[in-house]
Amino acid sequence: MITTDHTVRTFLDFFHERGHRLTPGGSLIPPPGDPVLFTTSGMHPLTPYLMGRPHPLGGRLTGLQRCLRTTDLEEVGDDTHLTVFEMLGSWSLGDYGGQQSLRWGWELLRDGFGIDPGRIHVTVFGGDEQVEPDHESWRTWEELGVPVEPTTEENWWSNGPTGLCGPDSEIFVWTGDETPRGTPTSDSRWVEVWNHVMMRYLRHPDGSLQPLRRPGIDTGLGLERLVRILRNTRSVFDIDVFQPWLNTLPRIWGPLDERSLRLLSDHLRSSVVVLGDRVPVGSRSRTAPRDPPHPDDAVARRLDPHPVRPTDRARGTHPRAFPATCSPGRGSHHAARRGTHIPSATRAWTKGTVPQ
Ligand code: ALA
Repeated sequence: MITTDHTVRTFLDFFHERGHRLTPGGSLIPPPGDPVLFTTSGMHPLTPYLMGRPHPLGGRLTGLQRCLRTTDLEEVGDDTHLTVFEMLGSWSLGDYGGQQSLRWGWELLRDGFGIDPGRIHVTVFGGDEQVEPDHESWRTWEELGVPVEPTTEENWWSNGPTGLCGPDSEIFVWTGDETPRGTPTSDSRWVEVWNHVMMRYLRHPDGSLQPLRRPGIDTGLGLERLVRILRNTRSVFDIDVFQPWLNTLPRIWGPLDERSLRLLSDHLRSSVVVLGDRVPVGSRSRTAPRDPPHPDDAVARRLDPHPVRPTDRARGTHPRAFPATCSPGRGSHHAARRGTHIPSATRAWTKGTVPQ
C-alpha cells in the first residue's frame, strides 16, 4: 500500500540520485525579513539563498517543509485543502534551468510514482504587459507530449507583494472517474500537485521587476494531495495520516457529520504543528483586539478552531482534553521533539490560550 512515508522517500531519493542535497527545512515562522506571516511554501527557509547568497550545501537541494497557507482557509474541509500541509521541494540555486526541472518532474510522476501520462495536464505563463510568455516551458511540455494551457495570473508566483517572483508551470492530475476532459482552469477535477517556479525576478515596491543576477528554480509538491491521488481516495482526509484522527475523534466527541469531522481533524492536527513551532496565534486577538486592527490578528482569528465551538455548544461541554492515545501522525514529530506536550497544547488552543 502507498504510504505518505514511502512517497516522501521516493521523492527525496529521486532528487538525491540527481545530485541534490537534503535541506533540513525550517519552522512555520519564516526567516526575518521574509514578507509573509507564516511559512506558506517550501522555499521560505531558502529565501536568502534564492536571492543570491551561496548555500553551504551547494546549488542543488531537496527537502520536505511543513507549511501553513492562510490564503486557502475558506476551502479547508473540501477534498483537497488543509490548513497545515507538507510540501516536498527541489531547488536549483543557479545550477540547472526550468527545462531540466520540468523533465525531471515529468519523469518522477510517470516512472517514479506511476501516474498515467494521459491523466496529466500542465499550465504555463502566457505573458503579460511586463514579461513575455514562458516559451521555454511551453516548448518543453510540447516536446514531452503533455497538454498545455497558458494563463497569466495563475502562472505567476510571488513570495508576497515584493521580493522574489517569476513565471511558473503547474502540473495537474485528473481525479475524475471519467476520461479526462477540459483543462485545469475549466474543470476542478484537474488537481494541482506540483508547481515549478522559474525564480527570475525581484519585485520592487513600485511594481518594477529587477532580473536576478543568479536565476533559480523553486518547485513545490503538496504531499497529502499527491498521496491522495496515488491511493485514489476521494479526499486528502482519506489518506493514512488522517486515520488516527478520524478513528479517535468520533469516540471522544460523539457523532460528527463528515464536514465537521474533516474540519476538526484538520484544525487539531494543524494546532499541534503550529504550537510545536511556538507560533503565538489566537490569544492576543481574542483577549485584546488592537486598535487600529493589525492584519496579523485577522489571520489569527481565522485560525480559530471554529468547528470545535459549535460542537461544544451543542453538547453543552467544554472542549475535552486531547487524548494522549490519539497519535496525530506525520507532521507532529517536531512538536514532540521540541517538548511540546501535545494534549495540553491542543487543549490550550481550543480554549484560545497559548502555553508559554
Ligand atoms: N513556491 C512554489 C509554491 O509554493 C513552488 O507553489
